[in-house]
Amino acid sequence: MTFMSKSVARLYTTFQPQNYNLALDLDLDTNLAAGKVIITGKRVGRPSQRLTFHGVGLKVSQATIVRHDKKLGDQTIEVSRVNLQQTLNEVRLHTEDQLYSGDYTVTIDFTAPIQPSMHGIYRSQFVDDGVTKTVISTQFESHHAREAFPCIDEPEAKATIDLTLTTDSGQTVISNMPSASQSEHDNKLTTVFETSPKMSTYLLAFVVGDLQHKTTQTSSGVSVSIYATKAHKPEALDFALDTTKRSIEFFDQYYGVPYPLPKCDMVAILDFSSAAMENWGLVTYREPYLLADPDTTSQSGKETIAMVIAHEISHQWFGNLVTMRWWNDLWLNESFANVMEYVAVDDMFPDWHIFNTFIASEGMSAFRRDSIAGVQSIKTEVRHPDEINSLFDPSIVYAKGGRLLNMLRTYIGEDDFRTGLTAYFEKHKYDNTTGDDLWAALAQASGKDVAAFMNPWLERSGFPVVSVNQTDSQLSVHQQHFLVDPSKADASRIWPVPLLASDSAVPSLLDKADSTTILASSDYVRINQGAVGHYIVHYVQPEHMAWVAQQAQSGELNEAERLMLLSDSGLLARNGTDSLASTLRLLDYYKDETSEPVWDTIALVVADSRRFIDSDPELEDKIKAYLRVLIEKQYQRLGWEPKADESNHDTKLRGTILGLGVYSEYPAIKDKALELFEAYKQDGKVVDSELRGIVFTAAVRFEATDAFDYLLKLEESTNNPNLKQEILGALTATRAPEKGAFLLSRLKDKSKVRQHDVDHWLVLLMRSRYHQALAWDWLRSEWPWIEETYGSDKSYDYFPRYAASALNTPSRVQEYKDFFLPMIGQPSLKLNITLGIEELDSRIAWIQRDLAAVQDFFKA
Ligand code: BES
Ligand code: ZN
Repeated sequence: MTFMSKSVARLYTTFQPQNYNLALDLDLDTNLAAGKVIITGKRVGRPSQRLTFHGVGLKVSQATIVRHDKKLGDQTIEVSRVNLQQTLNEVRLHTEDQLYSGDYTVTIDFTAPIQPSMHGIYRSQFVDDGVTKTVISTQFESHHAREAFPCIDEPEAKATIDLTLTTDSGQTVISNMPSASQSEHDNKLTTVFETSPKMSTYLLAFVVGDLQHKTTQTSSGVSVSIYATKAHKPEALDFALDTTKRSIEFFDQYYGVPYPLPKCDMVAILDFSSAAMENWGLVTYREPYLLADPDTTSQSGKETIAMVIAHEISHQWFGNLVTMRWWNDLWLNESFANVMEYVAVDDMFPDWHIFNTFIASEGMSAFRRDSIAGVQSIKTEVRHPDEINSLFDPSIVYAKGGRLLNMLRTYIGEDDFRTGLTAYFEKHKYDNTTGDDLWAALAQASGKDVAAFMNPWLERSGFPVVSVNQTDSQLSVHQQHFLVDPSKADASRIWPVPLLASDSAVPSLLDKADSTTILASSDYVRINQGAVGHYIVHYVQPEHMAWVAQQAQSGELNEAERLMLLSDSGLLARNGTDSLASTLRLLDYYKDETSEPVWDTIALVVADSRRFIDSDPELEDKIKAYLRVLIEKQYQRLGWEPKADESNHDTKLRGTILGLGVYSEYPAIKDKALELFEAYKQDGKVVDSELRGIVFTAAVRFEATDAFDYLLKLEESTNNPNLKQEILGALTATRAPEKGAFLLSRLKDKSKVRQHDVDHWLVLLMRSRYHQALAWDWLRSEWPWIEETYGSDKSYDYFPRYAASALNTPSRVQEYKDFFLPMIGQPSLKLNITLGIEELDSRIAWIQRDLAAVQDFFKA
C-alpha cells in the first residue's frame, strides 16, 4: 500500500504489449511461482534508456531485450541494471543503449509469491475428511496482475496471452482458455493453454486444485462448466450450470454478438474477497454465490446466485470483450452489469418479478449513500490505483449507475437500446472505450442526444428532489440537489429530469430549476410514474400527499411506485424536510400491503426508528409492540407453511414477516420458531428453507437449550456455504455478552473464520445493542491486524464504512472521529472515512431533531 495520491504515470504510453508468453511453475512447498515471461510489443514515445513494466513483490533474476529492426535484423540490447520501484509498482530494465521506438521482445525470469492474502496468486486451504487441501487461485482486478508477472497492468494494454502452468500432478488446472496440451514428468503436470484473444491483464486467471466439475453446452456450442471442491455434493453445481448456460444464451441473443470464447468455466473458491469476479472464460465465485444444495438452498439464495451469475456473464461482453480505457469509466463495466443482471434474470425467471427488487434494493442503497455530502460521482478521476477500491462503491457505481442506465433504457426504449449495444460491440470488440463511445452508439440508434441526457447524471454526485406544488390545474415543479445535510447542497446543480407525470400537459423533461404548467385536468398529478426516474418527489401540499398515499392504498400505484413513495418519505425525514413520524404515519396506508419488495421497504422504515433506541431505551418495547400489530395481517395470511403454487414473492415475504415477528417477540411466532428448532435438531429439516435462518436466529436469541453451541458446531463442521451464512446471522443475534465476546475472540483464528467473513461477523456484532461496545473496541484495538491482513484488499475500506453504519450516539461519533481521522491520509480509506463522519454527523442531527416526534408517535 502506498500513501500517495499523486497521479501515476501510464506505462502504456511507453510500451504497447502485443503478446505475453507466460510460464509459471507453482510450488506449494516454497509458496513461490517461478516464472518466465516473453513479452512482445512496441516501444512508443520518446527514446530512453529504460523499459518499464508493472511489478510488485517480484524477484527478477534475469532480463533480456531484443529489438526487431527490418533493416538491421534482431539486435540484443544489454540490460545493465534491473530496479524494482516499490512505491510506483514498477520493474525497470535499464540499458546503456537508447531504446528507440519499434518492435521489441523482452524476456524476464522472475519469481512471484503465492500469497496468503486474497489477491495476486494466492492459496486457500480447507479440510476435507481430515485432510488439509490447498487450492491456488488468482484475483487480478483491479491492479494485482503485477503481483504475478511483469506486465503493463492497465486495462488499455490489451494483448494476447499464452499461458503455461506447471503444478503438482493430480490437480485440475484451469484458466481463461481451454487447455491445448498437458504432459506429466516427475510428479509434475504441465498444462499449456490455447492463445487468448486480446485482453486486459486484470482479466487473466487460473485455478489449481483437487476439483470436481459438471459440464454442458449452450445452443451455440459454447462449453459451460461449474467447478467446486469435492467437499460439496455434485448436485450443488446443477443450479449454477443451468443458469450459466441460460445466461450465455440470453446475452448471445440480447447483445446480438456471440459469446466470444470457446468455453466458460465458473469456479467456487474458498477464500474470496468479492462475491464474484468476471475473469474472461473463468469466472471465480465465493462459494455461497455459486453453489446451491437443492435440498437446502432457499428461494432468496437461488435468486442471489442467479443475479451474480447473470452479472458476471454480462461482463464477458461489457468489460471483457469491450473494456473501459481507464478506471474512471469503471461504471461502463459495473453499472452496466448491474442493470443487465436484472434484465437477464427477468427474462430467465419471469415469475420472480425481479425488477421490483431492483427498485427496492438498488434504489434504496443508491439514494441513501448519494445523499451524503462528499460522495463521489459515478465518473471519477482515478489518479492512483489505490483509489480504485473505494471507487467500487456498490451504492454508487453499481446501484446508482444501474438505475441510471435503466432510466436511459426507458428513455430511449428497449429496441433502440439493444440496437445501439450491438453496434457498440461490433465496433469496439477486443478494444477499449470511454463512456462517449457508448453514448455515440446509443444516440445513433435512437436519434436522441444521449450524452446530454446522461452526462449530468454521471458526472455529478447526488440527485435532485423534485418538489411538486399544485393548485387546481396549475402545477409548479422545482428541482434541487438533495442532501441529508441541506446546508451543503449545491444550489446550482440541475439535472435533466424525466418527469414521467400522470398529466399529459406536463413536459417530459425538466432541465431547469423550475417549471410551471397549466394542466390538462385539475386532478392531482403524480410524478415519476413507474419509479424509473432517479430522483425523489416531495408533494408539498399535505392534501396532495394524502391523495397519493390513498392511491397507494387502493392499489392505483404499482409495487415499485408504492415502495418509492415510502422510500422518498424516509429520505425527506432524514434531511429535515419532514419527520420520521410522517413516514411512520404513512405506513397506515400500507395496512393491506402484500408485496414483498414493499415490505422490505417497510422493514427499513421501522429499522430507521430503531436508531432512536440508543437515545431512549424505552422505545424498544414500544417499537416491538407496534411491529406486532403491523405484521399481524400478513402473518395470518402466510403462516409458516408454504402454500402449493404460491408466488416466490410470498415465499420470501413469509421470511420477512416472520423475521420481524422474531425481532418483535410475537408470542406465537417465537413459540413456533423454538418448536421448529427442536425438530430441526432431530431431522435437519425446516418447513421451508427460506425460514431456516429465522428459526436459527430465534433459537439463539431466545436461548433455546444448547442452541448456540449446537449451531456453532454445525457451522464449524458443515461445508454447505448457505447454511454457514445463515448460522453466522443467527449466532450474532445472541444477547449474551460472553457469547458475543467469544465470537469476537475467534475472528482472527483462520481455522474458524474465513478471511473474507471477518467483516461480516464484525459488522453484525457492532450493529447489535448487546455487543456494540465490545465489537467497536475490538475493531479499534485489533486495527494493526486489520491493516496487516486487509490493507491491500478490496474490503479494507469496508471497516470504516460498516462502523459508520452501526453507531448512533454523539459519544460514539466522537470516538469514530478520534480513531479514524488520523488515517485519512490513506488513499484507500480517505473517502469512506470522510463519508462516515458526514453520515454520522447528519444521523445525530436527525435523531436529535426527530426524537420527540418519534417518541410521540410510539406513545400513541
Ligand atoms: N468485477 C467485480 C469484482 C471486483 C470488483 C473485483 C473490484 C475486484 C475489484 C465483479 O464483477 C462484481 O461486480 N462483483 C460483485 C458481485 C455483483 C453481483 C454485484 C461483488 O463481488 O460484490
Ligand atoms: Zn461486476
